[in-house]
Amino acid sequence: MALRATVKSLAGGVGREQCIRMLSVSSAKQASWWTDVEMGPPDAILGVTEAFKKDSNPNKINLGVGAYRDDNGKPFVLASVRKAEELIASQKLDKEYLGIGGLADFTKASAKLALGADSEVLQSGRSITVQGISGTGSLRIGANFLQKFFPGNKVIYLPSPSWGNHTPIFKHAGVDVKAYRYYDKNTCGFDEAGALEDIANIPKKSIIMLHACAHNPTGVDPKPDQWKALSKVIKERELFPFFDMAYQGFASGNTDRDAGALRQFIQDGHNVCLSQSFAKNMGLYGERVGAFSLICQDADEAKRCESQLKIIIRPMYSNPPVNGARIASTIMNTPDLNTVWLDELKVMSGRIITMREQLVANLQKEGSTRNWQHITDQIGMFCFTGIGPDQVAKMTKDFSVYLTKDGRISVAGISSKNNAYLAHAMHEVTK
Ligand code: LMR
Repeated sequence: MALRATVKSLAGGVGREQCIRMLSVSSAKQASWWTDVEMGPPDAILGVTEAFKKDSNPNKINLGVGAYRDDNGKPFVLASVRKAEELIASQKLDKEYLGIGGLADFTKASAKLALGADSEVLQSGRSITVQGISGTGSLRIGANFLQKFFPGNKVIYLPSPSWGNHTPIFKHAGVDVKAYRYYDKNTCGFDEAGALEDIANIPKKSIIMLHACAHNPTGVDPKPDQWKALSKVIKERELFPFFDMAYQGFASGNTDRDAGALRQFIQDGHNVCLSQSFAKNMGLYGERVGAFSLICQDADEAKRCESQLKIIIRPMYSNPPVNGARIASTIMNTPDLNTVWLDELKVMSGRIITMREQLVANLQKEGSTRNWQHITDQIGMFCFTGIGPDQVAKMTKDFSVYLTKDGRISVAGISSKNNAYLAHAMHEVTK
């Protein structure tokens, strides 16, 4: 009807034939290229925040994404970051492009933070560090490099479970993904025997992913002796270790202690690669600050690998953003600010440890008879509660407590104000 009316009214001015031609051209334009594109599922982690935002319950709690909150549940900007921003603003710096590998003051300081000031690797110049777009972007640089140049099996073995984004990062880069046992459901702790057995059976010259500290999603880290045992079997199998270090300083509050496993492996003679993120430990979530490092046999090899890393980065995003790297670099390279930052790390990690203790105490007050000791045994931003998918759904439906389906909670989202309410919800769905 409407079409006929349009034809009639247009025909008044331009003639019937011409009008029909115009309409058929415009209806041809409406044909879409994307009719076969199916609706994808929301992201397993970031989708939780989307659902949380839509909930009008004043008691709602978001324990989905790992982002630090203060004790009032508010996003937290570190004093060291604010101070660094003032220093940067006062210098009235230009906005020119960075080099493909990023800000040199930042990449040098990142490598030093990870490997230690007295590292033999740094002294001999046998490593290369490039700036990445936070942890994800740095992992992706590594994944693409391995896909192109790794001389062994282009398969990475992830701990089971691992961070949800690890699998697509490697798969999209063309690296196959398999798993080794890591988490023991019965103890809610590290499955040492299972991990060692699985790793001993990984085909030689494959790649293995290791979370340097504060394992995501489980919060379960191997003890120093267990790391030594892992290092030994990984060496025997001639595996290439890929360390993901997204939480340095956030687990124990001490950046050297949190880099202990990485440094142990290097001391044991492994030439590893490493992704770093400054999202959590500097609270620079939206600034996307990270780094990818490759430790090589000698300085010449490092130079050749650097040239290829640049060739990988250039068509992906040309060169990295400058602002966040300037902030992180200013903090790491200004002794006073560095001290402030290291203290702030202790405050953030300390608050998380206190929230764990309070949660266990509140669960006991609720009358829960379950063993919740793993809540305080686990470390870092996340706690793998052991709560199953149906109980997770009930926590969200009945209490507006938002968490990922695997039962992971971001302890950083708990405060002294919502702790008792959370304990009540957890008890109600598990009793
Ligand atoms: C998380 O695991 O919640 C964080 O690492 C944020 C993210 O990007 O998934």
